[in-house]
Amino acid sequence: MKAKWDALSAHHQAVKDRHILDLFADAGRAAAFTAEADGMRLDWSKTNIDATGRRLLVDLAEAAGVAGKRRAMFTGEKINDTEGRAVLHTALRNLDGTVIVDGKNVIPGIVDTLERMERFARDVREGRFTGQGGRITDVVNIGIGGSDLGPAMATLALAPFHDGPRCHYVSNVDGAHIADTLRGLNPETTLVIVASKTFTTIETMTNAETARVWMAGKVANPAAQFAAVSTAADKTAAFGIDPSRVFGFEDWVGGRYSMWGPIGLALMLAVGPEDFRAFLAGGRAMDDHFQTAPFDANLPVLLALVGVWHNQVCGHATRAVLPYDQRLSRLPAYLQQLEMESNGKRVAMDGADLPTHSGPVVWGEPGTNGQHAFYQLIHQGTRVIPCEFLVARRGHEADLAHQHVLLVSNCLAQSEALLRGRSLDEARAIMARKGLTGAELERQARHRVFPGNRPSVTLAYERLTPFALGQIIALYEHRVFVEGVILGINSYDQWGVELGKELALALQPVLEGRQGTDGKDGSTAALAAWFRG
Ligand code: F6P
Repeated sequence: MKAKWDALSAHHQAVKDRHILDLFADAGRAAAFTAEADGMRLDWSKTNIDATGRRLLVDLAEAAGVAGKRRAMFTGEKINDTEGRAVLHTALRNLDGTVIVDGKNVIPGIVDTLERMERFARDVREGRFTGQGGRITDVVNIGIGGSDLGPAMATLALAPFHDGPRCHYVSNVDGAHIADTLRGLNPETTLVIVASKTFTTIETMTNAETARVWMAGKVANPAAQFAAVSTAADKTAAFGIDPSRVFGFEDWVGGRYSMWGPIGLALMLAVGPEDFRAFLAGGRAMDDHFQTAPFDANLPVLLALVGVWHNQVCGHATRAVLPYDQRLSRLPAYLQQLEMESNGKRVAMDGADLPTHSGPVVWGEPGTNGQHAFYQLIHQGTRVIPCEFLVARRGHEADLAHQHVLLVSNCLAQSEALLRGRSLDEARAIMARKGLTGAELERQARHRVFPGNRPSVTLAYERLTPFALGQIIALYEHRVFVEGVILGINSYDQWGVELGKELALALQPVLEGRQGTDGKDGSTAALAAWFRG
């Protein structure tokens, strides 16, 4: 691998000062650097990757063994080897397949659970399952991290497909979150889903108890209006939730990869089983593409390679995700967990320090809002921030098509501006037209220069449907996988979240005054004293 990294680094040194715009002297560039899968189109031509760079990056992926590890993942090998688990979120959308784990085909169990979810969803949506005061009007999903971000993001993304009860998501242990959510809801017509893979997460269990108390104030049997999604059937039973409303999944589905199964229950309640299946089909289509397309036409592989080029090779530490799709406004937050919890690791599989940087900081907001907030820095700041634009050709609001034209023109204009920039001479001409001369013209012109030559990719799709959303999410999942394989890390554990959890548990009795601050550093001790004071 070292030779491959060195070759990329040498290539980067050789090309880093050229302008990406010059690469478009080749009239075939846009087509050559655009890949497509089932209507999902990735344009990566506005990067400083040329044919040589592309070959070197594909070489890197091949040398890292992406093809073999991909096979291992899809066939249920225990590639999460710090936890001894298979990684099989793909099985949740491979409904007619065969996947063997520990000698057993896991697909029938997945289909069985999916069908139970569907029956329950139909019962709720069609009024056969009711609350103690009548038909369910509201669903509150209590979960955090992977048990919240995916379904919450997708519920918002698929708003035009809602025809079920209203869905609300509570995650934060801050009582403000659940208090604000429950205010105005009727306990007699609310269904609470406690979504937790482990059913031990302190935030979720605390909020679940708060919801139970809230419901008990109005209904005789609160547990009858609770459902649970978890791998821990013993714990859901101890909480008092009837097994008929408990939907399980296996430990080979990681939390941040789990929205395709029972963790997606609230989404299914909102949009209905058919649209949920269409979402699964989109994910499955991307799985098929990922497994069969050659690397240099393979969307997840290309997205990963562009990311590796920008982060590990060029040294750009962050990446902005900029959906020009208001309904994808939670996508950046969802991707923060998917990417940063997966690839934010500092040691390789064998425990040795990584020779490269880990995955990048991922952040973003929808356009056009971001343009009026942080794009200033993206265009004129001193650091380069590779950008990822997402945009649909058509919106859902047929009567507002003129607004969609505005939206898309802004999206395309931003990547064009990042690429092209504005030279000092162009800025001088603008100032001259405004009547400025001499030193003042020069000073003002310098403020109006855009360096340009800033890379971006654009992911374009027809319309944000359940199928397209499934494609997008599976695309990002596989991108994370490829990047993880190239970096040589385990993308499927998350030990980095443990220490803070342990210390928070230990601090609780200190803040409650039941324990002293012995052993605490001076700052933590002083903050604890401030709280108690
Ligand atoms: O933050 C750590 C984490 O384990 C995530 O990986 C997970 O998605 C989240 O907590 C919630 O866990 P659970 O579903 O077990 O409540």
